[in-house]
Amino acid sequence: MSRLVVISNRVAVPKARGASGAQGGLAGALNAALKTNDGIWFGWSGEEAANPSAEPDVQTHDGVTTATIDLAPQDIEEYYNGYANSTLWPLFHYRIDLAEYSRETGKGYERVNELFADRAAGLIEPDDTVWVHDYHFMPLGERLRARGFENRIGFFLHIPWPPTRLFTSLPYHERLVRTVLHYDLIGFQCNEWLESFLHYCRKELGAEVDDATGKVTFEGRTTYARSYPIGIDYDHFQSVGDSGEARQAQQRMMSSTRHRTAIIGVDRLDYSKGLPERIDGLARFFERFPEGNREVIYVQIAPPSREDVESYQKIRETLEAKTGRINGEYSEIDVVPIRYVNKGHSMAELYGCYRASKIGLVTPLRDGMNLVAKEYVAAQDPDDPGVLILSRFAGAAQQLSDALLINPYSNDEIAHAIRQALDMPLEERKARWDKLNACVRDENIGAWTDNFVRDLGAV
Ligand code: F6P
Repeated sequence: MSRLVVISNRVAVPKARGASGAQGGLAGALNAALKTNDGIWFGWSGEEAANPSAEPDVQTHDGVTTATIDLAPQDIEEYYNGYANSTLWPLFHYRIDLAEYSRETGKGYERVNELFADRAAGLIEPDDTVWVHDYHFMPLGERLRARGFENRIGFFLHIPWPPTRLFTSLPYHERLVRTVLHYDLIGFQCNEWLESFLHYCRKELGAEVDDATGKVTFEGRTTYARSYPIGIDYDHFQSVGDSGEARQAQQRMMSSTRHRTAIIGVDRLDYSKGLPERIDGLARFFERFPEGNREVIYVQIAPPSREDVESYQKIRETLEAKTGRINGEYSEIDVVPIRYVNKGHSMAELYGCYRASKIGLVTPLRDGMNLVAKEYVAAQDPDDPGVLILSRFAGAAQQLSDALLINPYSNDEIAHAIRQALDMPLEERKARWDKLNACVRDENIGAWTDNFVRDLGAV
């Protein structure tokens, strides 16, 4: 069997910045995928170095071999803070109002992709299957091809692909997509992002597109684009939930929210997650149902993320101000309705917090998938499950249609869904949860990896 070489910006090595809970779903998902596949995981260490070594730092932890490199300050600024997180991230989350474009960051992005191609070249053997991840490395496959690699090379995009009319606001958009067509297989989280990509290829590039198979033919090359919804490591998550740490966290949540229903939100502090809009939805709930602030306690866990990027500093300020204002308005001497926690938590602690919460509030304005929604479902007590309130704009909504699906821009819909969840009879909660849980359990991380790697070998 050929080895799997995974390349992603973020790698779950213990020393990586952001490793404690702020790393999003990708790192955890790939960690699980690598455990079952012999191979190597290559990416950025998360560290800055004035003169980074050309030799990757290779380590094996818990059955997974990682190879990481440090990046120079200018590279971090232009590639990570710049083009990846100030241009592509907002644009791909439909926020062209926040997307910035400059020649320097565009060049920095290309330079770092060249650098990763150079360093990866020393790690890839002829029989290896290469799997590149996410918006940081869209051109990397083409850069490897330019170095003579004829391996199977696949790409998976963890975030949405925007509609063509938004995507064309990116200067040199054609150039970027042409590079992506050098992969053998391109994976998306759900059909909506896939459809937007195929639409772009047909309309803007004039490529030949077969919607039924996802085959895209352009300038003599063929690639396939399909949807592969990512899942969680269900069994591992359950075993973590069985630990003392998880039970303790559950107890802490329960005893501190006694006589009230706990509602939980867990998100990286990112404007795509719809946090101010969610808090407005809670305020609307308190306004419409005046007893509401004695009925519920909302716990928002929001580890800070990408703190050097201005739009992330702003979202933090906005959220702090809003939470403070709404707590001021609706608190009483013995009740503070919103708890806002800026710290990352371990998987076991999160499991306990999810289990102690009778409502999971997952309301991104736009999200590739959203694994918090799946973790919330997996952590519920089958005999007394909580209710998932989920944004219809998360990729997860296409699979988890038995959640209460809402429009995250509507305060009223959020408020109404909270009321509906609080009043939902046990029977209905169980019926909904059974279906949600079956999906989360069966369409798990193993199935995602197997499906993608199998297709990459077969196309
Ligand atoms: O899942 C999307 C994603 O951007 C991943 O690529 C990334 O690992 C995660 O969110 C967290 O972001 P960052 O690596 O920038 O901290």
